[in-house]
Amino acid sequence: MEKFSFFSLSLFLFVSSAAAAGNIQAVFTFGDSIFDAGNNHFNPNCSIQADFPPYGQSFFHHPTGRFTNGRTVTDFVSELLGIELQKPYLEVEQEIAKGNLDKLYPQNGINFASAGSGVLNDTNANFVSKSSNPFEAFFHFTKNELITITTQLQQFESLVKQNKIEKRTIERAFFFFESGSNDVFQYYFFSETDTDPKAYTEAMVEEAKRWLEQIYRLGARRISVFGLGPVGCVPARMLFTNASADACHEEMNQMAQRYNLGLERLVMGMAKQYPGLHVTYGATFDTVMMLRAQPQRFGYSNVSSACCGEGTLGGMGQCGVGEYTVCDKPDEFLFWDFFHPTEHTYSLLTKAFWGGDQKRIRPMNLKTLATTVY
Ligand SMILES: *[C@@H]1O[C@H](CO)[C@@H](O)[C@H](O)[C@H]1NC(C)=O
Ligand SMILES: *[C@@H]1O[C@H](CO)[C@@H](O)[C@H](O)[C@H]1NC(C)=O
Ligand SMILES: *[C@@H]1O[C@H](CO)[C@@H](O)[C@H](O)[C@H]1NC(C)=O
Ligand SMILES: *[C@@H]1O[C@H](CO)[C@@H](O)[C@H](O)[C@H]1NC(C)=O
Repeated sequence: MEKFSFFSLSLFLFVSSAAAAGNIQAVFTFGDSIFDAGNNHFNPNCSIQADFPPYGQSFFHHPTGRFTNGRTVTDFVSELLGIELQKPYLEVEQEIAKGNLDKLYPQNGINFASAGSGVLNDTNANFVSKSSNPFEAFFHFTKNELITITTQLQQFESLVKQNKIEKRTIERAFFFFESGSNDVFQYYFFSETDTDPKAYTEAMVEEAKRWLEQIYRLGARRISVFGLGPVGCVPARMLFTNASADACHEEMNQMAQRYNLGLERLVMGMAKQYPGLHVTYGATFDTVMMLRAQPQRFGYSNVSSACCGEGTLGGMGQCGVGEYTVCDKPDEFLFWDFFHPTEHTYSLLTKAFWGGDQKRIRPMNLKTLATTVY
């Protein structure tokens, strides 16, 4: 039954997407490497990068700063809306500084996401100061001025305050938010905090709440918040000393699910409380688990290893760095590199969120959110 509905919905998606075009003309995106379209690339002070080959090889045919082999979910959604892919905020700023954009901001929205950032202000903020930090040595991080969610929001806010983006554009735009995987990974990888997992997760949800309230205050009315995927299943879990190649890191998955529960509750509460707000919650965790459970049905031959990487599961080194290898058919892999899905996985997630039922995205899917008239 589920098989039938998923496929009929994905067919429906292609037939009916044109109807949605014309309503939503802009997309504003906030979050981490799942969404980063090149902000870190345009930030010389950040060494968390994917701006070298073979990143981007399957679609753009060159690295763009995206942490995958092609397009991300917001890219696919933009295609469905019939609008151009958004540029990273820092690229737009550079073009304006050079006089290329005539001080006009792009009408199709802006991507503010920055790889490495978390919902918590401090996540990944202190690499450089901690010399014993294993992550730092591992990634060769030297400079770490990633753009936190708080800063991303401030960047947007300053454009709004200066009237660089029309109020009507904001009202009619999609706002996407995805963040938290880095907080979860950091909690278990560094084990430096005395906060218990429950309190840590609650603090994460509090920060998501702060983001949602502020973006609403700045005029956003159609917001989609995505839950975390199974963070404990990423190939990079092999970096833990006694990790298993056969099993996901259960504590990380539990923390991700606890955060997701809080996030969904928050979203549902806000939908009732805030006039004019349409907000949805994308159930990434369950959707990825569905893909993993039936690999062949979704075109996968490998749902555990990174297509591009090094060591066990390709999880022990970054794609494109050092002694890495790349698989021949990235579309048959769920993971592109040690932390991130392939473009193929992002396209399946997009189908699930755009046209999927309540198991995938609640209380309405993106297509409905795009066409809601009010
Ligand atoms: C990078 O750091 C330098 C020196 O601290 C600073 O002047 C510059 O504005 C920073 N660039 C960005 C994009 O943050
Ligand atoms: C994170 O930073 C923002 C901006 O400085 C601040 O308003 C917020 O309270 C901080 N969050 C926490 C938990 O300290
Ligand atoms: C590693 O093994 C120890 C001892 O068996 C256990 O307490 C710990 O939870 C394990 N760590 C991970 C990440 O599995
Ligand atoms: C997945 O791909 C990796 C790397 O190519 C390989 O070592 C592993 O055996 C594959 N796993 C399966 C189940 O095919």
